[in-house]
Amino acid sequence: MFPKEIYIDRRNHLRKAIHKGIILILGNKECPMNYKANQYPFRQDSNFLYYFGIDEPDLAGIIDIEENTETIYGNDPDLEDIIWMGYQESMKEKCHKSGITGSRPWNDLKSDIDKAVGRNRMIYYLPPYRDDRRMQLSFLLGSDYDKTYARASQELIKEIAAQRSCKKEVEISEMEKTMNEVTKAFYVEAMHQIKPGRYEYEITGLIEGFTLERNCRMAYPIICSVNGHILHNHYHGNQMQSGDLLLIDAGAESPLHYATDLTRTFPVSGKYTDLQKDIYGIVLQAEVESIKAIKPGIRYLDIHLYASRIICQGLRDLGFMKGNVDNAVQAGAHALFFPHGLGHMIGLDVHDMEDLGEEFVGYDDDVKRINQFGTGYLRLGKKLKEGYTLTVEPGIYFIPALIEKWMSEKLHSTFIDYEKVKKNISFGGIRIEDNVLVTKAGHKIIGTPVPKTISEIENIMKR
Ligand code: GLY
Ligand code: MN
Ligand code: MN
Repeated sequence: MFPKEIYIDRRNHLRKAIHKGIILILGNKECPMNYKANQYPFRQDSNFLYYFGIDEPDLAGIIDIEENTETIYGNDPDLEDIIWMGYQESMKEKCHKSGITGSRPWNDLKSDIDKAVGRNRMIYYLPPYRDDRRMQLSFLLGSDYDKTYARASQELIKEIAAQRSCKKEVEISEMEKTMNEVTKAFYVEAMHQIKPGRYEYEITGLIEGFTLERNCRMAYPIICSVNGHILHNHYHGNQMQSGDLLLIDAGAESPLHYATDLTRTFPVSGKYTDLQKDIYGIVLQAEVESIKAIKPGIRYLDIHLYASRIICQGLRDLGFMKGNVDNAVQAGAHALFFPHGLGHMIGLDVHDMEDLGEEFVGYDDDVKRINQFGTGYLRLGKKLKEGYTLTVEPGIYFIPALIEKWMSEKLHSTFIDYEKVKKNISFGGIRIEDNVLVTKAGHKIIGTPVPKTISEIENIMKR
């Protein structure tokens, strides 16, 4: 945990912003895999981690603003817990680390909430992203299961999103350290191990093992695939062949649960083909230029559109696209090749605070989502502020099913040369992703650079 003053400050900030009522933040429970006692690795709720820091299951926190109290609900370990799981801290010890003096048994949570509801007090809570959280809220608040999600407090969501979006120095250094000591390090290791004849799962295993050896876990399931055009591909059974590209999208999560999220695309043979070089060059240009454009006050939506124009221009130069670049991007024709957003916030979650709702985290009253295929998937569109941490991850993909569909509908045929595209339909995909901090002066890539130019990568992979 961070020193307790950090959690006290965070709660004080929230208390001042919300003014009145009761804020309820649920921790997570253990989650069974195939029977109750065989569980997935425990992952604490990120909002609970942010405000209370205690990385243990079966807890809930209440901040009572008028009464000026903070309470964590949970049970002390009993003898059975100690027999099966060894020494466990008491509730008092856990709470002390978080700067909280009040702890109450778990069962008091329901009766305390009942009392507050009976006095017509406002209970603020966050939208549940797991079914058990939803059922728990419905039980605690005595409300309809179906209405629990919609009744989450927008006021609380907005305050928490604003607070968690601007990272403090301790959070940034947590991400930097993980990037340098784990994520960057496993990419360099992987580059030495990628060879024709080896399997995707060998590289995936290397990355995961490397991360566990350094007391970290993965921030999200690893994408490690010769089929980089399948955007969230978690199949790792292919044997790598000379001429293939291997797209790796992987990031370690620090022991305090701060995420990193990096993508590189490597030539399995150690050398890119001419067409791979040409397309890689466009993605790299879009990535580097987008990073350069990052500064407080600029809308991320505009940087996304800027990256889309660079991609469109590059593909036009290669003959895959045609016509006016601005018009093509406005029409959404680039999304055949770049069908996702340029990036998202990152922090305690890899898609930071996505549980609160993308519209509250990535958009606001000034910047609304553009509901067009491709750009509609952009998770962050609003104006950037100092302290934001985000990803920049443009890509170019040849997705056969999408190409076939658009071609059959002659969609955007004034902007796309389908004959040329069809000849390269099995190209695959390239994405390059870095994590960036918005600074007062502009931006800073989080961590020391991870090789990404063609010559840097080919030099390291020389064999
Ligand atoms: N790793 C998932 C993403 O880049 O959004
Ligand atoms: Mn990623
Ligand atoms: Mn990402």
